[in-house]
Amino acid sequence: MPPGGATRESELMTAIDPTLAITTGSAEPKEVFADAPTDLDEAVRQDPSAFRILTGDRPTGSLHIGHLFGTLENRVRLQQLGVELLLVIPDYQTITDRDSPASLPEDVEGLVADYLAVGIDPACAVIFTHSQVPELNQLMLPFLSLVTVAELARNPTVKEEIAASKGTATSGLMFTYPVHQAADILFCGANLVPVGKDQLPHVELARTIARRFNDRYSPGQPLFPQPQPLLSAAPLLLGLDGCKMGKSRGNSIPIAADEDQTAQLIRAAKTDRHRHISYDPERRPEISNLLDIAALCQQRPAADIADEIGDHGAATLKTIVTDTLNERMAPIRARRAELIKDRSHLRTVLHQGNERARTIASATLTAVHQHMHTQYLG
Ligand code: TRP
Repeated sequence: MPPGGATRESELMTAIDPTLAITTGSAEPKEVFADAPTDLDEAVRQDPSAFRILTGDRPTGSLHIGHLFGTLENRVRLQQLGVELLLVIPDYQTITDRDSPASLPEDVEGLVADYLAVGIDPACAVIFTHSQVPELNQLMLPFLSLVTVAELARNPTVKEEIAASKGTATSGLMFTYPVHQAADILFCGANLVPVGKDQLPHVELARTIARRFNDRYSPGQPLFPQPQPLLSAAPLLLGLDGCKMGKSRGNSIPIAADEDQTAQLIRAAKTDRHRHISYDPERRPEISNLLDIAALCQQRPAADIADEIGDHGAATLKTIVTDTLNERMAPIRARRAELIKDRSHLRTVLHQGNERARTIASATLTAVHQHMHTQYLG
């Protein structure tokens, strides 16, 4: 059964490609899936074609181990179960609060290399950038008419981003990018959106826009399915300074880092002054975070690793984290090193992804025009 237990067919998906038809409905799916092997896995195993996943990562720095354990591994797992995966590289989102940097082409290629290195298969996944899919961007216009300025102003994630930009003038795009993100999700009729908690308001807005469009322009036969957020069940990793791990905060371990860089980063990680190692995320967040990394690599409980280290202190813990992480990352890094040498292959992947996204987006735009009575020429 698809998310929300709904069964009605989405017109959009069948219009685009009958082989990719998803079943969904206008009913409100209540549940937020956690990506542990639970209900979702069961539903996916029964019918992978009932799901289409869309998610994305801003090209503002290398993906790191937080992404790997938090979401990338799960995307690969769902892909292997047969779910269709679309990955947007939202280059237009990077200009909400900064200029478009000259390094963007390299950053985008790096992201494609990260995706392929962790196991995303470009033969079935669609990897594309905003800027190259004009039909997707056009959807933003009718979508903007379906939300109020007050709703945009209330968005907690946007508010935080504006607060973090410390007095710089807020661009119109900063204010409206969640509507653009709704277009990312809805253009392909995605019904499953793997995101971090901070992105939940955006998925909620996409659901609102889908519902309002359906109610206003296609009552009785919903054009857009209701997307469902998919939260990670993995523990949220902190940065090595004990703060939130971020691509551009300099506190992460990038997927692309080599063994020595990894060792150096972990050596400099913040710990505390107690020699005895114990797993206590509340009171000892930095030590527990290192234990979480080791636990994710070794796939066993963090508390067991803590018990084994006992009085051997933080230096021993750091050696264990470094060794297990380097071992775990070795095949991914080897693949990435090969991929990054072949820029033309990365560009081909992107080119093909952009083309496929354009095909889907133009079918959606045509359907939208039909429903809005703006299809004048047949
Ligand atoms: N806003 C997301 C982030 O900052 C990236 C993103 C863009 C996205 N479009 C999306 C995520 C659509 C999920 C679905 O990480």
